[in-house]
Amino acid sequence: EVDDVTLPEGGVVHVPVVKGFFLELPLKVQEFVATYVDLLQPKGVYICDGSEEEEQEIADKLVDRGLLIPLKGMEKCFACRTDPKDVARVENKTFIVTEKRSETVPTGKKYEGYKDDTEIPHGMLGRWMSRSVAEEEMASRLPGSMRGRVMYIIPFSMGPVGGPASKSGVQITDFNYVILSMRIMTRVTPEVWDAIEESPDQEFVQCIHTIGAPRPLQRKVINHWPDDAEHIMIAHFPLQRRVISYGSGYGGNSLLGKKCFALRIASCMARDEGWLAEHMLIMSVTDRKGVEKFFAAAFPSACGKTNMAMMTPSIPGFKVQVIGDDIAWMRFDSNGQLRAINPENGFFGVAPGTNWKTNPVAMQTAQKNTIFTNVGITDDGKVFWEGMEKEIDPNTSITTWTGEKWKIGMEGKAAHPNSRFCVPASQCPVIHPLWEHPDGVPISGIIFGGRRPRGVPLVFESFDWKHGVMIGAALKSEATAAAEHKAGGVMHDPMAMRPFFGYNFGKYLDHWLSMDQPGRQLPKIFHVNWFRLDQKTGKFLWPGFGDNIRVVDWMIKRIDGEDVAVESPVGWLPKKGSIDTSGLDDVNWDELFSLPKEYWMEDVEETKSFFEDEVGKDMPQAVYDELEKLKKRVQTL
Ligand code: GDP
Ligand code: PGA
Ligand code: MN
Ligand code: MN
Repeated sequence: EVDDVTLPEGGVVHVPVVKGFFLELPLKVQEFVATYVDLLQPKGVYICDGSEEEEQEIADKLVDRGLLIPLKGMEKCFACRTDPKDVARVENKTFIVTEKRSETVPTGKKYEGYKDDTEIPHGMLGRWMSRSVAEEEMASRLPGSMRGRVMYIIPFSMGPVGGPASKSGVQITDFNYVILSMRIMTRVTPEVWDAIEESPDQEFVQCIHTIGAPRPLQRKVINHWPDDAEHIMIAHFPLQRRVISYGSGYGGNSLLGKKCFALRIASCMARDEGWLAEHMLIMSVTDRKGVEKFFAAAFPSACGKTNMAMMTPSIPGFKVQVIGDDIAWMRFDSNGQLRAINPENGFFGVAPGTNWKTNPVAMQTAQKNTIFTNVGITDDGKVFWEGMEKEIDPNTSITTWTGEKWKIGMEGKAAHPNSRFCVPASQCPVIHPLWEHPDGVPISGIIFGGRRPRGVPLVFESFDWKHGVMIGAALKSEATAAAEHKAGGVMHDPMAMRPFFGYNFGKYLDHWLSMDQPGRQLPKIFHVNWFRLDQKTGKFLWPGFGDNIRVVDWMIKRIDGEDVAVESPVGWLPKKGSIDTSGLDDVNWDELFSLPKEYWMEDVEETKSFFEDEVGKDMPQAVYDELEKLKKRVQTL
């Protein structure tokens, strides 16, 4: 069947429709699809309906092609291996396209005095691209990039379909792996067409994804994973509510509902509409008294969100349930209560380090209906990654993520450090009954944290909202394998959002500060560090994982107004002994909570230069003031 579709600029495109009824789509969607059919030149259009038959059909195709490997030792699970050049998000190829540079990134001191925006080097808080350069770059990539391939049209909702805080999207892709993953990570259903139809102005976020491998193929395909790794570009157009991702199949670059839409584009929507789109888990904790509280926590990628969100408490009497593990959309309701929804539908979790001891809930969740990417595969058709050594027979024969035969103890790694499991949230044994509630859950505490090997205590609490916003703005962490940065060095990652800001970070902080309004109950703000090292042994000072409940227990007491804190220069610290460490051997409290003066003096100065160099005049004065106050307090150490 071929439909004739009129382009927005006039002219007609002939669209061979492999599946679905093109002319029944909302008019704006028809125009959107037609525009990209015209540009990308696919051989046909396939309108996804989200059904199980569709899933089966697509999975079968991928298995036939060799991209998906069915795991015979697990239930409805698949593994795949990417091109080794396409294993993580690529921040230096991720751009925000706006008229002026200052809309996207702050003009820190380092970037002042240039004649032309386009001459200014990229900063650390996002990459700006001008419209004209974006047009050129896309013109050299997109035309004909789907030739010989089918264009799939995926209707999806971030948040429960039709919910007051939810948003619709339509993703175009030529990569079947993306369809299966989007079905897990977002809500893919034709009901989205109705939601778009019924919304004012037929609103949806336009997501365009192509792997950039038209047929006949010009390059050798590695691991049946076609891409154009040399020319990856992920461009966001906040004003147009559009994302164009070229050349990569890796999750963070290709599942456009996640980082691109739910963080970068959504942060702009949130600014415009008065809410917050954040890189945060959402969890519920029920304490010994049976009272439930909800927390949102922002840690940079691969710094512990998924683990915390579904942790198994190590002390009796507590219950943790997960609402989300990566992204929170939060707004104050009419009673002044901050409420959060998880816009996602699944977990895209870091595999290495996950095991039956550290995160039994994630292990249990990922036993069925899961897509594993870049993990090791055992000969009996199960998965293996670093951290599972004690949980399988040491003689098990394993194929590594690069396809080598391997055994535990041999050189090299079985799994890529950024290998992932992708699994529906609904099958998590501790998923919260309200996780899909369209109004979200009430947040009592916001937690910031990162990997800080030195100087930073296990936990402290901000004095107030402003101080808390400064703590978030000053967030730092060791780089991880989640993006292309060299792992190990401590780098700034403000609000754990550095790779995900959709607009000028200085303005983003203004927006955070503006949340403080009369009649609102502001959540308490905490900072945690599970990763402080014993400077003598190089081992973690804190056991982490399920034992982190002990720290949350202290936070709950603080929220309840209990007198369990002492004032310190950096914020409220736990009174000695006020965190339950019963049953833990050798917890070195003094070292865990010490505040080395020299370290903090240096840290404050370094943060000040970072703010000045990178944010400059765009930084709200209130944040500079808070930092200055911190500096004065640290001098008294
Ligand atoms: P996310 O990317 O922020 O969701 O981080 P994950 O929860 O997936 O964790 C990333 C890595 O950090 C995994 O290898 C975890 O095993 C490890 N990790 C998570 N929580 C802790 C903790 O409390 N202590 C320690 N030492 N490692 C942790
Ligand atoms: P993560 O999510 O935060 O769980 O690592 C993916 C990412 O941020 O790249
Ligand atoms: Mn993330
Ligand atoms: Mn995670």
